[in-house]
Order: sequence, then C-alpha cells, then structure tokens
Amino acid sequence: MSHIGSYESRLPNFNWAISEEELGYTPGGKINIGWYCTDRICEMGKAQKKALIWEDYQGNTKTYTFDDLRVYSNKVAQFMLKTGSQPGQRICLFMDRIPELYISFLGVLKMGGIVQPLFSAFRDESLFTRLNNAGTTAIITQKKLLPVVRKIRDQLPELKYVIVPDAGDAALREGEIPFVMEEGPRVERFDVYPSTAETPSVLHYTSGTTGQPKGAQHVHYSLIAQYLTTKWVLDLREDDIYWCNADPGWVTGTSYGIIGPWSNGVTQFVLDSGFNAERWYSVMAKHRVTVWYSAPTAIRLLMKEGIELVRKHDLSSLRHLASVGEPLNAEAVIWSQEAFGKPFHDTYWQTETGCIVVSNYPGMPVKPGSMGKPFPGITAAVLDVKTHEPITVPGKVGLIALKPGWPSMIRGYWNNAKGYANKFRNGWYLTGDRSSIDKEGYFWFVGRDDDVINTGGHLVGPFEIESALLEHPAVAESAAVAKPDRVNMEVVKAFIALKPGFEPSDDLDLEIMNFIRKKLSPLAMPQEIEFVKSLPKTRSGKIMRRVLRAQEFGEPIGDISTLEND
Ligand code: WT7
Repeated sequence: MSHIGSYESRLPNFNWAISEEELGYTPGGKINIGWYCTDRICEMGKAQKKALIWEDYQGNTKTYTFDDLRVYSNKVAQFMLKTGSQPGQRICLFMDRIPELYISFLGVLKMGGIVQPLFSAFRDESLFTRLNNAGTTAIITQKKLLPVVRKIRDQLPELKYVIVPDAGDAALREGEIPFVMEEGPRVERFDVYPSTAETPSVLHYTSGTTGQPKGAQHVHYSLIAQYLTTKWVLDLREDDIYWCNADPGWVTGTSYGIIGPWSNGVTQFVLDSGFNAERWYSVMAKHRVTVWYSAPTAIRLLMKEGIELVRKHDLSSLRHLASVGEPLNAEAVIWSQEAFGKPFHDTYWQTETGCIVVSNYPGMPVKPGSMGKPFPGITAAVLDVKTHEPITVPGKVGLIALKPGWPSMIRGYWNNAKGYANKFRNGWYLTGDRSSIDKEGYFWFVGRDDDVINTGGHLVGPFEIESALLEHPAVAESAAVAKPDRVNMEVVKAFIALKPGFEPSDDLDLEIMNFIRKKLSPLAMPQEIEFVKSLPKTRSGKIMRRVLRAQEFGEPIGDISTLEND
C-alpha cells in the first residue's frame, strides 16, 4: 500500500489539505467538479487517455478519451446556456446509463447548474414529485422517455426546457429541443462557471425510510473528499480499469461512478445493462477490469449462481473489490475470497455523507461482517440512544454518528430545513443506523433505526439474523423484520428466497428456525418464515424491510417510488 500509505500512517495529523494540495485547490479559490474531471486531467497530459469504455446491453461499445469528455461537456454546457438555462437552476438528468448521461453531468456542472440525476426507470409520479420539489427548469432525457415527461409537463410550470440528445427524426413538441452531442463542431473552449467551495453542485433525491423523498444538496467542495476516498479506499491507480456497478441516479453512481474516478484521471468501464452473472463476468474478463465497486445484493445473486461460473472466466485482472449500500454478510466476504481470491472490502456511507465514511481500508486486516474503521478525517462514534453521548464500551450497540464538517457532507435538504435540523443531536450528525464498535475500533452494523426488532425488550438487529440465515444451504436471500406479538411486543419474522433446487416445506421451515436458534439465540429465532420468490428492493438494491414490516403491522407502506418493480 506504499503509494497510498497504510491506515495507521494516515491517521495521525490527517488533514483534508492533503487532498486540496493534490488537486491544486487554494481555499477561497475556484473549484468546479466538471473542470476537475476533464480540463484538468487533459492539462496533466492525459488528454488522449481513455476515460470511458462504455458497453450497452447488446454489446455495442464506445470509448471516450479525457479530451472527448472535455469537449463534449463543453458542448453540453454551451448548449444549456444558449437554450436559456442559467447557473443555479436545477437541471435534471433522466436517462439510461448512456454516455450522454455521464457527459451531461459534467457539462451541467461546468455551466454552474445544479445537477439532479434521476433513475430512468422512474415513471410519472416519482418523476413529478422530485421535479416539483426541486423547481427543476430543464430536463435532459431520451426519446423513449418523452411520454413519461409529457404526462406531467403541464403540472410543472417551472420546467421550461426538455432536451433530447437522441431525438433523431422524432416529432418533438413545443419546448422539446434536440441536442446532438457528437456531431458538428467541437467546442474546444468554454468559460467554466467560477464556482467556489459552497456553490451547489448535485441534488440527489433519497427515499429515506419514511415520508417524502428528500433532496440532498451537495456542493462543489465535496470533490475534496470524493477524490481522496476514491484514491485511498478504492485504491485507484494510474493504469486501472475501474467498474462501479451503480447507476448515477444513486449517489454511488455519481460520487464513485463519475467524480471519484475521473478527478483521479482513471479509466472507467460502464455497462448500460441490468444484472446478469454470466454477462458481468464476461465483461470484466473482456475489459480487464481491475477494481470493482459493487453491492451486497449483486454479490448475493452472484453467490447464488455458484463458483463454477466464476471459474469459466479469466478474472485474473481483478485487484481490488469493494462493496456498498447494505450490510455485507461475512458469508459474502468469505465467498469472494474463494471465488476471486480476494475479499470484498465493505464501505459504509450515505447520500448525505457524499463520501465513504467507514471502510475496510486497503491493507487493513478484513474482519468479515465488519464495515471497518472511519476514514482518516472522519470522526465517527456510536451514541447512547437516550443521552446521545458516545458509548465507550466495546461491543455495545448505539446510533452511528459523525462529527460534522467533512467536505462532502450535504449542506441541507432542498426546501426542508426542519428535516435537516432533525438529523443533529449534541453536535453530532445522526446517520439513522446502529452499530457497535469492537476493541480494535472496527464497526459492526446492526440495522437501521427503523428496522431494529424489539422482542420482549431485547433489541435484535436484522443483519445478524440475515447473515446467519445465509449460512444455511437453502437460503439465497432473506429479510428479517418485526412482527407484532401480544406477549413479546415484537417477534422476528423472516422472508426467505430459496436457492434453485430447494422447495418450501414445513420441514425446511422448522430446520431453518432451529438453525438460527442454535447459531444465535431463541430470541433471534424467526417465529414465522414466509418463503418468497424475491424480496422488495430499491433500485439501488436495498432490501426494503419497512415495506415488509408495514405489511405485518397493517400500516401504510409509505413512499415506494424507488421500489424496483420490473
Ligand atoms: C444507507 C444509506 C451507501 C452509499 C449510497 C447511498 C445503508 C450503506 C452500508 C454498509 C450497512 C449500509 C445504511 C445507510 N448502508 N452502506 N456498508 N453496511 N449498511 O445510500 O441510499 O443514502 O443509503 O444504506 O443504512 O444509512 P443511501
């Protein structure tokens, strides 16, 4: 780890100035993420280096150099200004993972707009809620998505421009403007908007656990944290081919799917296609992917397909694996060691944190099932649920909290000052998650506040139960939730998807219950098991336990606009 320094060597005297200096940023000066990811990399002599290797679901590929990124993002920026957009306006990106999505992200930042990336799978209501909340004035979308936009256009008086990069000969309506990125004159020069540290950059809507989706407001200074965490935690190096599975509709897909790799001048691969184990291994082998940032849901699906499939592909290029988004079961870490010869490194963070805050730092011994330790420069603690004072006893569960002030923390929720203020107690930012910290400072995730199961006064975290369930040979995936109970207030109910070749039966039911009772405790043992084909998940792959829980309690299920339904 000599080029990034060991965790121990980085801890003392850590200062974010390390990142500022590497990026050549002077406090008080200009900082524009769009410029940093394109122009600056070209100025460093990497104009002809590949920035993006893109492949679609049919296997068509395209490549773009950093100079292409620079010129095309200039073109987007210029076009947006010309058509009437202005700095500070919210400009929505509503596209599949096509090159225009990635390049428009940078282009909008270059002209000073606030990027609002949304999943292309959203339908009219989900789209409406977010555009309405943000007062979005322009949307860059695709021809095939126009029907969705048209459905709500009349209800959005502030939405003036609908930009369509792949319009072709489609009949466009008033206010729908075609834009061709790759044809016509190159835009060699563009006066990048002189944004400074606190200028708003990205507005990410996060579904949260309750209530309406919230717009998490990031600023250009976030780059300082995103750049350095990419370099140190994802261990990106000059010759890497990096693959991040996440869609930019989700913060992982922007912080580590655009800003992180490109501000480091690293080549990244993008696959505009859904999950398919065979395909994933093939593209990794074909493009010689070296660093892979994935998620537990995907990893569990890969596990389900078995190790034989892994063996059919040459994955020797892989050097570093990382995971984010949900608790990474110990079983998955052990499996990846067997399958790929290296462990997945768990990383923990949120839309609100903008960057990885707790992780298994490269070179630090991995404890399977643990999220690792705080990134240097991040002060993290677990707080007592009642007093909100840091817990000093190793192993005791509390609320994960962070000391505010790191560069990529959100600066607020759009139009929701109260929601933001509510995230702080005693000078700490509350993540809404629970964990314990062991003697060596490793964090062990327990669950989200709302997912914790209270059985007879004992708090049981779903993660522990789900991880134990995964060790049973028949279980592919599971969700443990609370179910109301007259005696114990709540008991554990497990929803289980079985591996191919296993059928639900009363015997299996009993066997699994006993398996958990013996592994964990009678308290953690599910009192009821329901076998399901699949679990409700968000588009970013998170199991929506609260949907299952609400069903058990007969409560309204709340906002499910990010629920994956195809
Ligand atoms: C929530 C954040 C994660 C970045 C993308 C944005 C859960 C995330 C882990 C992990 C256990 C995790 C937490 C967190 N989460 N990473 N490594 N172990 N839980 O994500 O949509 O804002 O969600 O995801 O509950 O609060 P997000």
